[in-house]
Amino acid sequence: MHYPYQLKSFEAYQAAYEKSVQDPETFWAEIAEHFLWKKKWDKVLEWNFKEPRVKWFQGGKLNITENCLDRHQAALGDQPALIWEPNDPEAGHRILTYGELLFKVMQFANVLRNNGVKKGDRVCIYMGMIPELAIAILACARIGAIHSVIFAGFSAQSIADRIQDAQASMVITSDGAYRGNKIIPLKAVVDDAMVGCPSVKNIIVYTHTRLPVSMIKGRDLWWEDEIRKVEKQGNPFLQAEEMDAEDLLFILYTSGSTGKPKGVVHTCAGYMVWANYSFVNVFQYQPGQVHFCTADAGWITGHSYIIYGPLSAGATTLMFEGIPTYPDAGRFWEIIQKFGVDILYTAPTAIRSLMGFGEGPVHGKKMDSLKVLGTVGEPINSEAWHWYDQHIGKHQCPIVDTWWQTETGGVMISNLAGVTPSKPTYATYPLPGVQPLLVDEHGREIEGNGVSGNLCIRFPWPGMLRTTYGDHERCRQAYFSTYADLYFTGDGCLRDEEGMYRITGRVDDVLNVSGHRIGTAEVENAINMHSGVVESAVVGYPHDIKGQGIYAFVIFNGFHENESLTRQDVLQTVTRVIGAIAKPDKIQFVAGLPKTRSGKIMRRILRKIAEGETTNLGDTSTLLDPGVVEAIMEGRIS
Ligand code: WT7
Repeated sequence: MHYPYQLKSFEAYQAAYEKSVQDPETFWAEIAEHFLWKKKWDKVLEWNFKEPRVKWFQGGKLNITENCLDRHQAALGDQPALIWEPNDPEAGHRILTYGELLFKVMQFANVLRNNGVKKGDRVCIYMGMIPELAIAILACARIGAIHSVIFAGFSAQSIADRIQDAQASMVITSDGAYRGNKIIPLKAVVDDAMVGCPSVKNIIVYTHTRLPVSMIKGRDLWWEDEIRKVEKQGNPFLQAEEMDAEDLLFILYTSGSTGKPKGVVHTCAGYMVWANYSFVNVFQYQPGQVHFCTADAGWITGHSYIIYGPLSAGATTLMFEGIPTYPDAGRFWEIIQKFGVDILYTAPTAIRSLMGFGEGPVHGKKMDSLKVLGTVGEPINSEAWHWYDQHIGKHQCPIVDTWWQTETGGVMISNLAGVTPSKPTYATYPLPGVQPLLVDEHGREIEGNGVSGNLCIRFPWPGMLRTTYGDHERCRQAYFSTYADLYFTGDGCLRDEEGMYRITGRVDDVLNVSGHRIGTAEVENAINMHSGVVESAVVGYPHDIKGQGIYAFVIFNGFHENESLTRQDVLQTVTRVIGAIAKPDKIQFVAGLPKTRSGKIMRRILRKIAEGETTNLGDTSTLLDPGVVEAIMEGRIS
């Protein structure tokens, strides 16, 4: 494949950016020409941010899997599409060529059809990082079923909430998943979730760990048995379903400032164009290169930069089942050496945690195949940026600091590797098609350079979310109502003297813990479910490795035996309700919380206390009972 729209110089970027603003419809139409359509679009863009209503490539018909698989067969059929490295380094990797991947996707698409899954049905996928996860995702897309992948760290309750919200009729899982030296019993977790999920008709279980699982007659099916049935049926060729440009491709649940995660909806054509365009340009992918994105496919980064972006570009994508520190902290570097990885895309939290092991694990690893490094998920601190540059890139690889969100579908603000200037800790300039602006708290635009404010986007881009599943009003409320006619990102941001952007972190009640997005209200709800809890307030605080840690202030009614056991009970409750990723790092039991006279918890004060501020807590004059603050400060957990 070659990419006529790959920008190769700063001047080319500037010209593309200019055109994308002056004439967005022509700009995107020219890019969309390079994809496979069953029918071309009638209208490039229709939009207003009031409802919001955004439609790209209306009237166009396509299937994203034809763009990811079929169209590469002639030239790349025997080339590796997906390289899989297992958790256990001794277990043997797998390589699927474009030909094999298409075959397996069609086989499994037949399995879905045999079990009554139709276009528009919702399919929930709860799996570890194995090729079958990618196959399941693509098989859904092949037949037009809407996939909703749930990160394998979420609890049964979280799965149930998401299944109910989407009314999913099918769940795809595996017996278990390997993660470091642990085995996670995925099917058992799904079984627990099923209690409240009458919409689910079938569960398909892939055999991976051969952990004992219960298989319920009439509901649960082994993946392998179903594949054998398809084999018996003969030719597995399955024509890709014809999808409208704006048909739903997937739902991905993400946390916001309310207690309940939202189902972010992405549609077929715009998402495809955006994932591909951003992949090709940000990483400057060249044919034949190996792209290693370390994210989990349970998050948007995996959707866009392990699966849809790379595959639509005919790239070789590397999928890793394990964790960076198993069997030791040299695992990433080992993988880079083993497969001659060209592009490494990871998260600041991973870099910081590996930094902690020193240069030892890096020494002796042959990593001269590396050409581009990337980071995503949270602001990268200067120390981590320089360590990455020096010890991994050996000062030879541009680092792309990519800012984006589940809602944006793909990278929005980033340097283009080796093509546009980079600046440590800065995401730098917007991609063509992205029109960012900073506003003050009243929504007034802050113009000029050397300023900071709240980051908004004023014009639609093809990869943006279209709605939140089943509740469009919620989408409007969350993203389009804070500031009139603008998409509000929830992030604070500064723009330097050269107009480069640096994202400074969330300004809403959303935490970013090890690159995982967690709502404070969600954690509070979970804590409050414990029978002894009267009330709680959760805030973030700076954490050396995770970026942010979770600090919970909890009013508790009579410890069960003692404080430390009770603390464990509360943690257990959060693990049950959300998952271990949302467990507070610190729980401080308090007698009261700082509240205004109208009863609102003053989080600003709690945040200061959690951060370790001892003197300057800001204005406390509106507090109902200033004495509460003293007591909390005394009991602070350092
Ligand atoms: C939030 C989105 C997009 C994939 C991973 C997370 C933060 C993301 C950066 C970056 C500073 C970043 C923002 C954003 N974020 N990338 N390069 N620099 N902050 O997706 O779970 O939807 O979280 O992650 O705060 O709003 P997500």
